[in-house]
Amino acid sequence: MDIHKLDKYAKSLIKEAAGRIKASFNTELIIETKSEANDLVTNIDKETEQFFIGHIKRDFPDHRIFGEEGFGDNIQDLNGYVWMLDPIDGTMNFIHQKKNFAISLGIYKDGVGILGYICNVMEDDLISASLGEGAYFNDLRIPNVEQARIEQSIIGINASWVVPNKYIEHEGMIELVQTVRGTRSYGSAAIEIAYVVTGKLDAYMSMRLSPWDIAGGMVVAKEVGAIVTNLEDKPINLLTQNTFLVAKPGLHKELVTNYIKLK
Ligand code: IPD
Ligand code: CA
Ligand code: CA
Ligand code: CA
Repeated sequence: MDIHKLDKYAKSLIKEAAGRIKASFNTELIIETKSEANDLVTNIDKETEQFFIGHIKRDFPDHRIFGEEGFGDNIQDLNGYVWMLDPIDGTMNFIHQKKNFAISLGIYKDGVGILGYICNVMEDDLISASLGEGAYFNDLRIPNVEQARIEQSIIGINASWVVPNKYIEHEGMIELVQTVRGTRSYGSAAIEIAYVVTGKLDAYMSMRLSPWDIAGGMVVAKEVGAIVTNLEDKPINLLTQNTFLVAKPGLHKELVTNYIKLK
């Protein structure tokens, strides 16, 4: 398989899907809940996933798809080509704000990320990367991330980090919030990873993300030298949910060593 052809193909699907999502603003949105009252899904999340799957299955019948909305394959291993797709990352933003949501896609071959994409739909931005060939913001090459000092960093976390919770010693988080220059929360893991990749954030972390939230972002992060691990500084397993940390190199070490204390 020619990776450049696959890249072109994936980009054209993403572009078309983004156009369809934008066009959906003129139609009635059907909103449902999934696991709990704030876990939302819409007809557009489902239709977008089905749009990708329809094309991929037609054009690459031996490729498998791991998608959030469950229309793809039952993935128990990463053999062969696996497309990890979040059709809309940031559904709550999509519904409430009509911005700050993304299409997130990673294409893996035998467990290795070969292509990664984060499309910020309303900004018309596409971050893309192919293994060993660097990362791009639209057509511009993204430079490697630089080292950051914690006192000068902006960290992507949400409010749940600083209230007592069952995963993290929140004293360490309070100290972190008091030490960093600022914190931000955008409500889309893919966009927050994209912001670390492009230097708008210095780190982003989450207590629980799914493979489709991070698969595309991980390919891109690697190409610019950002470090991705779980919160225990161990490799991510793309077959299950994980805790998650992406950060500039020195900062990553400082966060896992001095601030993030798991219970
Ligand atoms: C969610 C977003 C959100 C993150 C959640 C994800 P979804 O994805 O990325 O920022 O905090 O953990 O589930 O459900 O909108 O695709
Ligand atoms: Ca969801
Ligand atoms: Ca998601
Ligand atoms: Ca989603």
